[in-house]
Amino acid sequence: MSDFTFLDARGLDTAEAYRLVIGCVVPRPIAWITTVDGKGCVNAAPFSSYNYVATSPPMLAVNIASREGAIKDTARNIRETGEFVVNVATEHTMEAMHACGENYPPGISEIDALGIDLLPSRLVRPPRIASTPVQMECRLDQVVVLGRGVNTLFIGEVVAFHLSSDVYDGKRVDSARMRPLARLGGPFYAGLGEIYHRPMLQRPPGGEGWLPITEASKK
Ligand SMILES: Cc1cc2nc3c(=O)[nH]c(=O)nc-3n(C[C@H](O)[C@H](O)[C@H](O)COP(=O)(O)O)c2cc1C
Repeated sequence: MSDFTFLDARGLDTAEAYRLVIGCVVPRPIAWITTVDGKGCVNAAPFSSYNYVATSPPMLAVNIASREGAIKDTARNIRETGEFVVNVATEHTMEAMHACGENYPPGISEIDALGIDLLPSRLVRPPRIASTPVQMECRLDQVVVLGRGVNTLFIGEVVAFHLSSDVYDGKRVDSARMRPLARLGGPFYAGLGEIYHRPMLQRPPGGEGWLPITEASKK
């Protein structure tokens, strides 16, 4: 039997809670989010407090913290324009994505500074990052201020998917080919590592999944 450290989370300050949460909730996918400001200046920044939260319609949620009490460019742009694009960070795009995590002042585009190639979106104004294999155009659905106000959850509806033929065969996205990048605690990233297969035990919402469904699970 191993020893456990008990920590009463009710007494933790923000910094300590952050260190624990980002160490415990791993691995996290990384949304490399593009937005535009009121003047059309393109902003790009990574966010790993992110996941999908609905499928009917598809929705993504990202938590954007304030920075020393000030709103981050991404949060301000989403509030002002109601639009953002989630570009999925991969091992291949790690260096450029990581560099976008630096604090560029408002109005200074990470895109220009780092020479990131863009592609136009179809339904929203923020462009897509060309080097990523999956991009999701989103319209803001809800803004939820959390807890003591440091964190704000932005929930967006995915209104368009852009899927590279490198990873999408017309039916499913191939994770092994995509090589998504994950964020761990501290300054660490990880790739996928070994992929395990188990049969689906229940039908996914809206129909059959792409993995075989066992006899037992049909009952
Ligand atoms: C891999 C990675 C993940 C990050 N995840 C988050 C996050 O989930 N929420 C957040 O507020 N900041 C996160 N950050 C920090 C922001 O990217 C950083 O504050 C950035 O400067 C924000 O840019 P902006 O002001 O252009 O929006 C992350 C940084 C990196 C490198």
